[in-house]
Amino acid sequence: MKATTISMVLAGVMCMSMSTVAQADKHAFNDAESAVKYRQSALSIMRDNFAAMAAMVKGEETYDAEVFNNRANDFARLSHIPWDGFAVEGAMPGDDTDALPAIWDNWEDFESRANQLITDANGLIDAAASGSMDEIKPAFMAAAKNCKGCHDQYKD
Ligand code: HEC
Repeated sequence: MKATTISMVLAGVMCMSMSTVAQADKHAFNDAESAVKYRQSALSIMRDNFAAMAAMVKGEETYDAEVFNNRANDFARLSHIPWDGFAVEGAMPGDDTDALPAIWDNWEDFESRANQLITDANGLIDAAASGSMDEIKPAFMAAAKNCKGCHDQYKD
């Protein structure tokens, strides 16, 4: 019962975040400074989950299927979150952000890279559920490619 309620709330949150991308007045925050903090926080937590998986993929930590599964699910949920923080008017580069102006000159490309990350994060959930490193490794590498690809273009 409790699990059902939580997943319904999550489904609602995901629908909301998808439908509000084009509407700058309906985010979880309402000024540019908060938007920058919001996206950076989300990216950091996303990275923490990703790094925990990387340690197991590289063999630095012993692979534990349940732990990996949890990290993959949290990573996929988080992969939806940062992008709204770039869609707020005025949340442009300043002293406190590494985001490059090229993002807003190439918004469609930026958005499609974000969507690719979400797709690959969901692929990683499926691979994690298999419990096999042979399936996890390529799915993890596919997700990892998105980080560097986007950072090279759009992060200082
Ligand atoms: C669609 C583009 C894009 C993708 C994909 C992407 N990032 Fe980033 N990332 C950015 C941008 C732009 C910034 C700079 C944000 C800012 O400072 O406002 C950033 C910043 C960060 C930061 C620093 C946050 C902070 O506290 O300042 C971390 C950590 C990070 N990304 C991790 C990742 C990881 C890990 C992945 C892949 C799993 C990833 N990112 C994928 C665009 C992307």
